[in-house]
Amino acid sequence: MGGGNMGKPMAGRPMSYKVEDKRQAISLTEAERAVVTAEMRQMLASVQGVTDALARGDAQAVVDAASKSGMAMMQEVPAPIRMKFPAPFTQLGMASHRVFDRIAQETRTVTDPGPTLKLLSEAMQSCVACHASYRFAPPR
Ligand code: HEC
Repeated sequence: MGGGNMGKPMAGRPMSYKVEDKRQAISLTEAERAVVTAEMRQMLASVQGVTDALARGDAQAVVDAASKSGMAMMQEVPAPIRMKFPAPFTQLGMASHRVFDRIAQETRTVTDPGPTLKLLSEAMQSCVACHASYRFAPPR
């Protein structure tokens, strides 16, 4: 490797953060955040599972991966946590869970992965939109 500062922390020089975080903060305790972020990681795993299954042409694996992030998942989040979510946040969450259910219900074969990919892209529009608008923050 050609010297320079690659991979090394820049000692003594404070990192300049030029990106202002304008996302709306949703206040969650550490325990509440752990519940919700576990759900998030499951959704990411579902996205990975669906794409992997599509690549392998395994329709049943598409169904299995997608159904793990359907509406049922939302019910697993305790009501006191859900009550802290602003309405548009809940709507974006529901929108993505619903599309995962549709992927599970509508995928019969993957000879043409197009329709399933279209739905997955639709589900991921909610990930993108919500992540652009909200963050979690500890209560103060
Ligand atoms: C309704 C809003 C919403 C939707 C929809 C949503 N997320 Fe998130 N997600 C968040 C918020 C808020 C955070 C925390 C961001 C922060 O505090 O910086 C987060 C964090 C995450 C994390 C980090 C988890 C961790 O361990 O810290 C992953 C991974 C993630 N989301 C994946 C996804 C994927 C994949 C989708 C879509 C399939 C998705 N999310 C949909 C709101 C959402």
